[in-house]
Amino acid sequence: MPLSNMPYLLGANRAVGAFNFIQLEVAEAVVMAAERANTGVILQLSQNAVAYHGGLAPAVSAALRLAESATVPVVVHLDHATDEALIDEALALGVPSVMYDGAHLADDENVARTADVVQRAHAAGVWVEAELGEVGGKGAHVPGVRTNVDDARDFVRATGVDALAVAVGSEHAMRERTAMLDEQLISALAREAAVPLVLHGSSGVSDAGIDGAIRAGMRKINIGTHLNIVLTGVVRRQLAQDASMVDPRLYLAPAREAVATEVHRLLDVISKGSK
Ligand code: G3H
Ligand code: ZN
Repeated sequence: MPLSNMPYLLGANRAVGAFNFIQLEVAEAVVMAAERANTGVILQLSQNAVAYHGGLAPAVSAALRLAESATVPVVVHLDHATDEALIDEALALGVPSVMYDGAHLADDENVARTADVVQRAHAAGVWVEAELGEVGGKGAHVPGVRTNVDDARDFVRATGVDALAVAVGSEHAMRERTAMLDEQLISALAREAAVPLVLHGSSGVSDAGIDGAIRAGMRKINIGTHLNIVLTGVVRRQLAQDASMVDPRLYLAPAREAVATEVHRLLDVISKGSK
């Protein structure tokens, strides 16, 4: 199937799971899970993960090839990019969706830089997610921070972004799924911002919280840390069971399978909330 795009995946007002990968095995697991669940999915690579790999092209090219060979629609997305040169590189490599993260900037500067990125990305047919204020952990996705509804509406109008990351109670890199989301705020933001809303830090949100957020209007559900917990847990157990193990396939294959099983389960939770 050809590489998919965000308007197609989010069509009919559906919510979509967006899973971060660092290792190729996790990208493979996400695509396997989407095929098993027979649903579309977003495979995303953050600027931090790009830095870990020492550049965008190798990892994102692998993701693009995986997407093209999938039997379900897969979108590849550059996540949390603060570096505009990296976004331009993503556009040149054919990445169909990017997040420009100007949340660390002063509000006026964030609007100006985001609007500029939107113009370049739209000229290339690429979808842009952006963040207003900060959503904590990597800035403002912290429990006490909330996106203001009027600010969100004005930001979307001023920048022309296609989707908005909002602060509604989640936080990046949580290891427990205990975050409590403000569903009333999600509803108000969905109504006023009038673009798909993105939930960052969804690893810290329970199944019921994800379901409630989607029913309130959340559309892109970003999950990263939770997959790292699953992957590393299996690797740790495998190595503890057999100290003589050296072939990485022996511990990564079961870890990849465990990630695929969990992503499949989460995709089912996300689809249920979309109905
Ligand atoms: O942009 C990526 C997500 O917000 C992932 O956050 O690692 O806390 O699930 P998480
Ligand atoms: Zn995030």
